[in-house]
Amino acid sequence: MIKLLLIAGARPNFMKLAPLYFELRKYPSIFNPLVVHTGQHYDYTMSRVFFDQFGLPQPDFFLEVGSGSHAHQTGNIMIKAEEIMLSEKPDMIIVFGDVNSTMAASLAASKLCIPVAHVEAGLRAFDRTMPEEVNRVVSDVLAEMLFSSCDDANLNLIKEGVDVDRIFLVGNIMIDTLKHFLPQAEKSKILDKLELEDKRYILVTLHRPSNVDNPENLQKIAEILTAASERCPVIFPIHPRTRKNLDSNGKYSAILNNRNIILTDPLGYFDFIKLQKNALLVMTDSGGVQEETTFLGVPCLTLRENTERPVTITDGTNKLVNLDLKKITSQIDYYMSDGLPSKKRPMFWDGQTAERIVRILREHFANKAKQEDQAQRLTSTDKIVLKDAVK
Ligand code: UD1
Ligand code: UDP
Repeated sequence: MIKLLLIAGARPNFMKLAPLYFELRKYPSIFNPLVVHTGQHYDYTMSRVFFDQFGLPQPDFFLEVGSGSHAHQTGNIMIKAEEIMLSEKPDMIIVFGDVNSTMAASLAASKLCIPVAHVEAGLRAFDRTMPEEVNRVVSDVLAEMLFSSCDDANLNLIKEGVDVDRIFLVGNIMIDTLKHFLPQAEKSKILDKLELEDKRYILVTLHRPSNVDNPENLQKIAEILTAASERCPVIFPIHPRTRKNLDSNGKYSAILNNRNIILTDPLGYFDFIKLQKNALLVMTDSGGVQEETTFLGVPCLTLRENTERPVTITDGTNKLVNLDLKKITSQIDYYMSDGLPSKKRPMFWDGQTAERIVRILREHFANKAKQEDQAQRLTSTDKIVLKDAVK
């Protein structure tokens, strides 16, 4: 039996872990997948709600690391994950995306010579000021198997010298979750609850430190949201990092006291997908939301200077607008007057990514077992030859 530790910790990890976990469970005589939750995210709306909605069991191991500086959080995850790896002795660990939990678990496993598989490998923003970029680069350097979601990711890895035999273009695993749960999300009553009309509101999510930890940029965001709210209602489920910054400073009354900006806690997956699907457009700095809007064919304005997901621009509905008020308002006006988003979708964003990964893992472990078996036989033959020689 092949023991795999699936290690996750932050909101965007759970949509990537779920399809793989359920696919692995289809082969109980081959795989024993165990879930490790680092506790990087811990509020109900940032973590548990996804286990409940996706029907995932309780994690097998819960590390409870909580929040902290990068070094503190990374170090704590390494220490606690190492203990589990030492006691469980997995054949491989599987990590997802680009959060601190991804990099910390990869590092801890590598030092114990436990192979690492990285799902969502190869994405690059080419911006090392982003903490996620560091996590991506380190996780990819350490991974033995790199599962990528698009061609440009493969190219990035090859340019960095990764052996092509270790790179597998499998598609976007978040889309597996999206496709699977779309019918359930359609049933959400969130539009009625918030009194929103189909295609007549803007959905916003923002949590990048470069946007929300920087007072100058947060001020620009307040102006952008005000301008948007003068055109149509804005719905803004607030990430805890962003909430902390808005609350800690009385300056943002333009956001907090605006009757046309609806502020909520982070939402569960079904409500959030329903809101994405029916939005006029989405304004975001989230990686996953850039991808989901592309799949759903909903216009997306990304309030960043760069993206590690350029395929959502070339083959999707995404546009990079930074914090440029003029560009953003003209895009909103364009879509309000029936401007159409692109209809293209990237290859393999089809809901079958987990299936592809598991097929590759089965082959990988079957080959490994064959090689080990051959090596074993060779050694026993060698021993006989050696014995005969001694006689
Ligand atoms: C993390 C990831 C980021 C990802 C995002 C998804 C890193 C470096 N960053 O950013 O890539 O896009 O998650 O949402 O891994 N907090 C709570 N409750 C929680 C979790 C966090 O209140 O359940 C607050 C804490 O004050 C914490 C802050 O949010 O200090 C930031 O959390 P953290 O996990 O460090 O980074 P994120 O901004 O969430
Ligand atoms: N999401 C959610 N509720 C929200 C905001 C986002 O369920 O209030 C989902 C979203 O649909 C996507 C994932 O969270 O599946 C994206 O996570 P996040 O934006 O936190 O992280 P990133 O993708 O930027 O790393």
